[in-house]
Amino acid sequence: MSLDIVILAAGQGTRMRSALPKVLHPVAGRSMLGHVIDTARRLEPRSIQVVVGHGAERVRETLAADDLSFVLQAEQLGTGHAVAQALPALSAERVLILYGDVPLIEADTLRRLLEHVAPDRLALLTVDLADPTGYGRILRDTRGAVTAIVEHKDATPEQRAIHEGNTGILAVPGARLADWLGRVSNRNAQGEYYLTDVIALAVADGLGIATEQPLDAMEVQGANDRLQLAELERHYQRRAAARLMAQGVTLRDPARFDLRGEASVGRDVTIDINVILEGSVLIEDDVQIGPNCVIRDSTLRRGAVVKANSHLEGVELGEGADCGPFARLRPGTVLGARAHVGNFVELKNARLGEGAKAGHLSYLGDADVGARSNIGAGTITCNYDGANKHRTVMGEDVFVGSNSALVAPLNLGAGATTGAGSTVTADVPAGALAVGRGKQRNIEGWQRPRKR
Ligand code: UD1
Ligand code: CA
Repeated sequence: MSLDIVILAAGQGTRMRSALPKVLHPVAGRSMLGHVIDTARRLEPRSIQVVVGHGAERVRETLAADDLSFVLQAEQLGTGHAVAQALPALSAERVLILYGDVPLIEADTLRRLLEHVAPDRLALLTVDLADPTGYGRILRDTRGAVTAIVEHKDATPEQRAIHEGNTGILAVPGARLADWLGRVSNRNAQGEYYLTDVIALAVADGLGIATEQPLDAMEVQGANDRLQLAELERHYQRRAAARLMAQGVTLRDPARFDLRGEASVGRDVTIDINVILEGSVLIEDDVQIGPNCVIRDSTLRRGAVVKANSHLEGVELGEGADCGPFARLRPGTVLGARAHVGNFVELKNARLGEGAKAGHLSYLGDADVGARSNIGAGTITCNYDGANKHRTVMGEDVFVGSNSALVAPLNLGAGATTGAGSTVTADVPAGALAVGRGKQRNIEGWQRPRKR
């Protein structure tokens, strides 16, 4: 059966106290609405309609994609009114309603819910809550059949004693939706067009109401303020950590690990505390990551080691390569197998061949370093002339003396050597020594100035 999905995202989110529309606040590095859209996509719907209102332009700009339609709800007159704005675009046999500020809902839960929808049956996601204050309550008859939802503000004391709450998520047969929404009124405590009134109308029309519950109540938790947002974040991260550990990863402390994107991680990988993985990260078996590292959009091959306080973005570390502590590896960095980058070394768009080393305090930008070459401490590639970037290319087994300034464009042939402190401005042939510095002279018996 075909499916349209409507995501409600027009509300203001006053309690966030933010210039950013509520649904754009991030959980795990992605906007809440972005998470809901990702989950919606996994259900392979015919269309995804996002109902926007507050901050509509910003929401649209941030999330625009070919498979999304944005529908404007100019005034927020209630959840029923919000869904009604999307009606002209709906044509599938089933319509699923989701919320842009309920980011942790799982596709599997929604699949279970959708299985119940039929031309004569709605499906409602409910949740049993110790404190259901604020939630719509699920009313059932003596045989347990759902008859209606009553909003907290409209409920009698007896109804408020009901602990089964409405999550807001429901799935309905599409053919009837327009008719029901047309009959919803705003004569209630909040003067709003309640989507929840559709239930009683459907029951009156002889439809059945099936209910499902999420496996975990956090799946249906919305974020109205920054405290709830932080709680969703922690829940997400605990789940992400548990998943990795189940796959054979050691997290020194799962409470101090953050995943902001996708990570594919092999076995016997060890990740120390306060590591953040961002974007798309691939980590092969036996990799070790020290504390306080940020690793974004990178690939770490088998047995690679990232030592404490390193920052990697757009990097590939070869098998058994290592970097840090305090390495900064920027986009385009490729370390060959067993290559070594030590402390306070910055690499950008640079390749180190197999077994090559840059142990201390260097900047290598737009550089190619041959296998087994050694870059002395304090070496700088002068890759930028103020207008253009130029490459430095080194063959195998090059030895660059400490504190060399390599003025690009520059070629150092295989086995070339540069003397410490050299400013190298011309190519060095294979096997040659380049010395580009003032010759030392000694002045005997030198008298230092004295204090007057
Ligand atoms: C709604 C449900 C309630 C449920 C609760 C769960 C209704 C009438 N009530 O109540 O039964 O227990 O969610 O959290 O549906 N929105 C729009 N346009 C509007 C109004 C709301 O896009 O005109 C969006 C909001 O941005 C929000 C969502 O719909 O994401 C829910 O709206 P909200 O006003 O928070 O509904 P509740 O009163 O919490
Ligand atoms: Ca709400």
